[in-house]
Parts: sequence; C-alpha cells; structure tokens
Amino acid sequence: LHVVHIAAEMAPVAKVGGLADVVAGLGKALQTKGHLVEIILPKYDCMQLDQITNLKVLDVVIKSYFDGNLFSNNVWTGTVEGLPVYFIEPQHPSKFFWRAQYYGEHDDFKRYSYFSRAALELLYQSGKKIDIIHCHDWQTAFVAPLYWDIYATRGFNSARICFTCHNFEYQGTAPAPDLSYCGLDVERLDRADRMQDNAHGRINVAKGGIVYSNIVTTGGHGLQDTLKMHSRKFVGILNGIDTETWNPSTDRFLAVQYSATDLQGKAANKTFLRKQLGLNTEDTSQPLVACITRLVPQKGLHLIRHAIYKTAELGGQFVLLGSSPVPHIQREFEGVADQLQKNNNIRIILKYDEALSHCIYAASDMFIIPSMFEPCGLTQMIAMRYGSVPIVRKTGGLSDSVFDFDDEKIPVELRNGFTFARTDEQDLSSCLERAFSYYSRKPMVWKQLVQKDMQIDFGWDSPASQYEDLYQSAVAQARGVT
Ligand code: ADP
Ligand code: GLC
Repeated sequence: LHVVHIAAEMAPVAKVGGLADVVAGLGKALQTKGHLVEIILPKYDCMQLDQITNLKVLDVVIKSYFDGNLFSNNVWTGTVEGLPVYFIEPQHPSKFFWRAQYYGEHDDFKRYSYFSRAALELLYQSGKKIDIIHCHDWQTAFVAPLYWDIYATRGFNSARICFTCHNFEYQGTAPAPDLSYCGLDVERLDRADRMQDNAHGRINVAKGGIVYSNIVTTGGHGLQDTLKMHSRKFVGILNGIDTETWNPSTDRFLAVQYSATDLQGKAANKTFLRKQLGLNTEDTSQPLVACITRLVPQKGLHLIRHAIYKTAELGGQFVLLGSSPVPHIQREFEGVADQLQKNNNIRIILKYDEALSHCIYAASDMFIIPSMFEPCGLTQMIAMRYGSVPIVRKTGGLSDSVFDFDDEKIPVELRNGFTFARTDEQDLSSCLERAFSYYSRKPMVWKQLVQKDMQIDFGWDSPASQYEDLYQSAVAQARGVT
C-alpha cells in the first residue's frame, strides 16, 4: 500500500508528546512490512533540523488556496528515521510556522487548516496514486472533508482516509465562518450530522474527521453520539513504542547501555543521573521515582505534586521532567520547584528535553503516571522497557497495559506494575507505599519484576498489523464515506 501520514508532529524532529512517537513508530513499522510510507509535516522554524538527513528544497513550488487567494509553498524533502518526509513551508505573510513553538498560537486553527489544504494540494499535484491518507488529531482532520468535498471531485479519489484522534480533549473548534479559510463550504458543513459543534455557531474539526473518514481510530470524550453513528468505522488500537528509539541496550543517550540480564548497567545510570542532577548520593537504599510528562490537567497535576511529597516522606528520590503549554501551570510548578530547591532528594526540571528523558527512564526504579484520563499513554511502556516499574492510575490505555502486582484476579504473568483507582491522594499514597515496600523488603522479587517488564513486547509490529488490516479493508471499500 502507498500510505501518507499528514501530521503536526513526528519524533524526533518535531515532538511535543505521544503523537510524534506514533507517527514515527507506526510509519517505520508499516515501512518494514513492505508498504510505501511518506509523511507530510509543516516546516516549523523550531524543528530539530539536525534530525533530518538530506534536507533539500524541491524545485517545484506548490500553490495552495487560503482565504480567497493562492499562496506559494516551498516543499522540502528529507529523511527522518529512514522515512521520506515532505515539509511544507508556506509563503504566507502570517508566517504560519515561523514561530517559537509548535502549538498554542492564537491562530492555530488557521495555521493547521492552511497546512491541511497545502498538504493535500501537494499530493494532488504529485499525481501519485495513494491508497491511504492517514491524518492525526484535529490539526490535520481538515484533510478528511477537504479530500472528499474538494479533491475527490477533481478526480483525485484513489485514497481512503484514516483519522486517528489521539486525544479528544482537543477537538479544534472555531466560529463556523472560519472553516471557509481553507475553502470548505461552511453552509454545507455547519450541520449537526456534519461538522457543527455542540456550542451554537461553532464548528468542530475532529467531528469532521470522524464523519468524513473511512476509518477512525481512538478514545471518546464528548463526541460519543457522532462516534456511535459512525461506529462501523471506529476501532481502538493500543499504540506501540518504537523499540529502536527506546532500547536500553543501544540507547546513545545513556551513560551505560544495559539489558534485562545486566542490571548493573541500569544502576550505573542511576548513579550517573544522581550526580548529573546534584541529587544526594549517600544513603540511596530507597528508590528513585520519576515522572516525565506534559504538565496539563489530563495528567493529574495534583497527584503528581502529591507523589513528589509522598516520595520524599518515604525516603525516596523524585525527578520530574515536565513542560507545560499553560503558563499558570508552568508557574505553579516553578513555585513547587522553588520551594523544594534545597531538598537534594528532589529535582523538578521544567522543560522539554529528549536526551534527559532517556536518562531518567533508565535511571529510575519507579515511574508514576496518575492521569485523570489517558487515551493510550506511551510513557508506561517506555518506562517498562527501561526497567522502571510503572505506578499508574487505572484509566484508559494505562489500565489496558499496566496490571497490579497484587491483583489476584489478574494472571501472575501479566502483573507488571502498581495501580490505583481513585483520584484522591490517599489511594496514590497507599499504592506508592506498596511499591516502596516491595522495593526495600523484597529485592529479589523486585528484580524479577524489573526483568519481566523489560522483556514485554511493546513494539509496533502487532499494532501496525492491525492498522494494515484496517487500511486493506478501507481500500476494498467503494469510494466515499458514509
Ligand atoms: P501525551 O501524548 O499525552 O503527552 P504519551 O504518554 O502518549 O502522552 O507520550 C508522551 C511522550 O512525550 C513520551 O515519549 C514522553 O517521553 C515524551 N515527553 C513528555 N514530556 C516530556 C519532556 N518534558 N521532555 C521530554 N520528553 C517528554
Ligand atoms: C495523546 C494521548 C496519549 C496517547 C498519544 C498517542 O497525546 O494523550 O494518551 O498515547 O496521544 O496516541
């Protein structure tokens, strides 16, 4: 199959969260299975350019429609993680992707509707016969209605559309007239069974993604009615992780590589991180607990805060690596960091740092994820692969992948971490106490748990096969969506 992903993120060039990991990991796995996979991204000014090989600008300039005019786009190509990627650079006065950050700009709706249209224009003008166009999250969900309403009617109709909504927390809503910027017909689409949002006078792009795609993969959050109506095309697939990027035995970011049969290497990473971060290096009999996350309400901010204090109370060490797109949350955690600055068992690092994240996964004994909701979650899988035992709230993808060590209803071989159910602090506290108790009182049991976790297969091979089946069934469908 010829599969094109149109996305706002891809690891490691343009990463904010799990979306980036999925685009790269799924793309690579499909390529390994013999499919032709291409990716289209915006050419962000703030991208990690050093992660792209053979970056060059093409001779062709693609003109695309926006708000009544045609604008030129430079198209760059390069290879990322072995995948061919096209980067679209709009020559638009608003300098849509020349910003200091990926998202969170006042004009995100315009930026991504522009990008979705330009990406489709690139495919249309290339004349390629594409089987699957896979768009991700609201930012590129515009692609689905644009494809069927505009491009398919021009004869570019070989493709079927797959839409993955990674997080229904973000649906991309705007005043209805804004939909016309990218050339969509507002009157046609501003209807309850198409793209109308629940709020009066607004439209909802994720909804358009569901309605206008052949296949939808995802979680829920508010669009249940639309999802129910389109349930025939709706499938939930648990993500994998890229086992080449996340491999403690080859990871170039680590001080020492290690594997399940050589945990001394893991201990060396812990010693190294402690020194690097200026953590106490004496009396280290208690575990190092870590959390790596976007700091947004979804992730259970009050419980993250509580876990820091509770770990300190239990005599452990805590490292938080977090970044927040929300200024008041960033300030709040800066406050916590200031308050705990002198405590040399706690480090709070408030930035996005890929290299440091690898070192923390490797160095930590436990990894905490107290999310309020979690469509899938990748950090629990990465943590396990690095032998950091996950402590998670039982929700969404976390409860599909982490099973409590003491839960007798779960077969012993599946038990791989510690879970708690409630959102109050007490439940988290007792869960942490249980984990600490195993760690300090039953070191052999703990070691076996670590080794077991490191050997679980979280690779993309199996989820990518599920995508492959879905793609094949969509390709076999007649054109159009219902
Ligand atoms: P989400 O997509 O909701 O943020 P996931 O668990 O799916 O959550 O994926 C998060 C990804 O982002 C993981 O690869 C994690 O390591 C990474 N990540 C999150 N915050 C940071 C940070 N501050 N620095 C480096 N990597 C981070
Ligand atoms: C979203 C979700 C996360 C998921 C990721 C990749 O950001 O919050 O749970 O793992 O997308 O699908």
